[in-house]
Amino acid sequence: MPYCQFADMLFIQFRNEEGFFYALDLGGTNFRVLRVQLAGKDKRVAKRESKEVSIPPHLMSGNAAELFSFIASALAKFVTDEGHNNVLDDKQRELGFTFSFPVRQSSIASGTLIKWTKAFSIDDAVGEDVVAELQTAMGKQGVDMRVAALINDTVGTLAAGRYNDKDVVIGVILGTGSNAAYVEEASAIPKLEGELPKSGNMVINTEWGNFDSSCLPVTEYDQALDEESLNPGEQIFEKLISGLYLGDIVRRVLLKIALQTPLFGNVSQTKLKTRFILRTPDISAMRHDETPDLSVVAEKLAENLKIRDTSLETRKMVVEICDIVTRRSARLAAAGIVGILRKIGRAVPGDERRSVVAVDGGLFEHYAAFRECLEGTLMELLGEEAAKSVAVKLTKDGSGLGAALIAAAHSQ
Ligand code: BGC
Repeated sequence: MPYCQFADMLFIQFRNEEGFFYALDLGGTNFRVLRVQLAGKDKRVAKRESKEVSIPPHLMSGNAAELFSFIASALAKFVTDEGHNNVLDDKQRELGFTFSFPVRQSSIASGTLIKWTKAFSIDDAVGEDVVAELQTAMGKQGVDMRVAALINDTVGTLAAGRYNDKDVVIGVILGTGSNAAYVEEASAIPKLEGELPKSGNMVINTEWGNFDSSCLPVTEYDQALDEESLNPGEQIFEKLISGLYLGDIVRRVLLKIALQTPLFGNVSQTKLKTRFILRTPDISAMRHDETPDLSVVAEKLAENLKIRDTSLETRKMVVEICDIVTRRSARLAAAGIVGILRKIGRAVPGDERRSVVAVDGGLFEHYAAFRECLEGTLMELLGEEAAKSVAVKLTKDGSGLGAALIAAAHSQ
């Protein structure tokens, strides 16, 4: 995988931190601001408050200053709303910045953007230090905060998972985008220059979303989706797996059927040609429809695609298409996890250690059939015996919490 980002494992060997720490989690169509109160070894996370703000679509393809200014103003409001009864009144606030795009990391709190992914495309930010951009925007809004750490959401998930369970070795995001990070022995990293980290371990952000291989089951629908995307030729694995794309793959299959058969009526009276009109939550709802006449499917087809009067047989076919697209995604994600487990020598014959995979992201959290298929495939690939030592754990909001924890570990 071409993009790697290194972060010393020391930062997730927490020091029983105490106090208030902040996190900013930017990676999807929303960003979140968090305040976390850490209460030491036993009480751990005493309090967690957060605010989610949706990013206006024009800011995702505008310029960097506008996006960071929007984020900094939400941060300013979040801090102002705290009032004055906060223990931090006379201390500079420390922030962990989760920035979920490929970054060339130069230190724990700096890194340049390699490229945008998902629905973002802001040319003037590429090659720039995203922490410096955020720090400048915060300065203009009068927010007195220090960015103590810059991390990827997979690294945050790994850190948050590990804070609660020392056996967590992989952090995975299955949401709008997809990626994984894992703990590697520093000596196994040829790219690493200079002194090895004291812990002997590093976290590698694999950026698996950018994986591509002729072995991947890419269809004509995937090819068309890729060609019409913001980043053609890139993030191929992600385009087969992640929540941003699954709904649109299903739409493309339905469109082809509509063009070749009368099953969905007159195509021009439907919305089948509108990109991204069918979203992954819609296909999840259709896939889970248990009504005898598949009324949820009928409703989704009517609401989203303006397709009415389908037969029960046609609705069954739609459910099956949703299922096929979902299963392909879940099985590929499971294969990615097994690949990493094999790389680190886990869950192989003779390995007695427990290996926990911390997962965050809406696709995994909200789509039961996806989750079940992923877990079933892990069992199939690892074998029943080895699979017993592997646990997949939902680590809700791990990407944000992990940033606050890492900020705490690197606080001054
Ligand atoms: C980004 C990764 C991120 C993943 C999940 C991908 O598009 O390249 O950095 O971890 O999405 O948010």
